[in-house]
Amino acid sequence: MPAIAVVGAHWGDEGKGKIVDLLAEKANLVVRYSGGDNAGHTVINDYGEFRLHLIPSGMFYPHTTCIIGNGVAVNPAVLLAEMADLTRRGVDTSRLFVSDRAHLIMPYHILLDGLEEAALGSKAVGTTRKGIGPAFSDKAARLGIRAGDLLDKEVFLNRLRSVLERKNAILTRVYRMKPLSVEEIFRQYWGYGEQLASHIRETTGMVNEALDKKEAVLLEGAQGTLLDPDFGTYPYTTSSSPMAGGACQGAGINPLRITGIIAVFKAYCTRVGGGAFPTELKDETGNLIRDRGHEYGTTTGRPRRCGWFDAVAARYSSRLNGYTGAAITRLDVLDTLPELRICVAYKLGGKTIDFFPAGINDLEKCEPVYEELPGWQTSISDIRKFEQLPVEARRYIARLEELCACPATVISVGPKREQTIIRKHIF
Ligand code: GDP
Ligand code: IMO
Ligand code: MG
Repeated sequence: MPAIAVVGAHWGDEGKGKIVDLLAEKANLVVRYSGGDNAGHTVINDYGEFRLHLIPSGMFYPHTTCIIGNGVAVNPAVLLAEMADLTRRGVDTSRLFVSDRAHLIMPYHILLDGLEEAALGSKAVGTTRKGIGPAFSDKAARLGIRAGDLLDKEVFLNRLRSVLERKNAILTRVYRMKPLSVEEIFRQYWGYGEQLASHIRETTGMVNEALDKKEAVLLEGAQGTLLDPDFGTYPYTTSSSPMAGGACQGAGINPLRITGIIAVFKAYCTRVGGGAFPTELKDETGNLIRDRGHEYGTTTGRPRRCGWFDAVAARYSSRLNGYTGAAITRLDVLDTLPELRICVAYKLGGKTIDFFPAGINDLEKCEPVYEELPGWQTSISDIRKFEQLPVEARRYIARLEELCACPATVISVGPKREQTIIRKHIF
């Protein structure tokens, strides 16, 4: 009964989409367990290039069933558009299911996300403005509306009426906006519900029964550990847990059922949005990595901040998640660099520390302590065997393995499914 979680190990966009698409070849079930359409997972395979926001990246095989778990916040309009796009391009989405417990992103969530960000001014989080924070806040405040509510007219209308009354009070009195219309939202969302009805269902039974039958289940994370509201760079975080613990909670399985936890690391680091980023490169090397790696947000198109691999953050991420293996992606992006740096400690207030501090001001003040390794300065995109990588690339990977305390079982040398070195099969 292997249940393998695929977890973003730094600040998101590590290449989870590519890795899940690859591993799903041997999976029966793929479950997205957190986030919402703030995520953008790129998959390049025989069907073409896709930027998935909600549909699990394992949707491309005829043998996989895909689930959007209870831990995901679903914007039904985005989901329907994504399903239509996949269908148009020849991908069957009839085996896609949405947990009836998944919370919905409503129009007021998107409005409030924008208004709250604007009110924060220079201290804005830099959210994707998809309504994620307000939707997960409502879940915690017991004001959420769930996918299952769309299946019962009376339940949905009553719920919407009572929640919207409170949201309109905030919109009109705090933000001086016009109130939203219950009738309009009802009509729009009831329409979504009718289109999604055959996909919305109780899903924890499906996942647990698959595991009982010893089928292979992949749990697809969104975002990354350092965006976790508990362990990330709070308040510059997202609002649901991207971590391995979040996989149990967001898919509806108990922790003992997880048999493997795969970290997805980039061979360097990136971050989109605000918040501390100790190894950020604001120089030519940073620009070069951004250009070579086309480092622009999959969801918002914003340029990603680029920097050296932060092994202090990686070790912290590894300890908190319990990685059994790592997929290291985008190694090829470093092909032209004469030397590479890895951050092995921070300097804070004259002291050298090897832990990731909680205080946001502390992390802002941390100066990276670097170790330098030679680059390989040759193209590695066509290599498929670890032994054939240049010795410098092998040394770089070995050092990352040592520092992150987990074996690099998969190494990705290009965005396509086949541009991968598999050192140990995960299923
Ligand atoms: P995710 O959110 O973790 O799924 O990652 P994104 O899709 O947002 O960003 C990862 C980007 O890296 C995408 O454009 C992928 O196509 C690309 N990618 C993934 N693996 C590799 C790799 O090994 N090399 C290169 N050059 N690009 C990669
Ligand atoms: P994937 O799954 C990278 C970042 C935003 C912002 C912060 C909060 O593609 O790796 P939110 O909209 O969640 O309230 O924004 O989190 N963020 C991501 N950064 N990859 C993502 O997803 C992200 N999802 C959210 O940029 O800094
Ligand atoms: Mg992404």
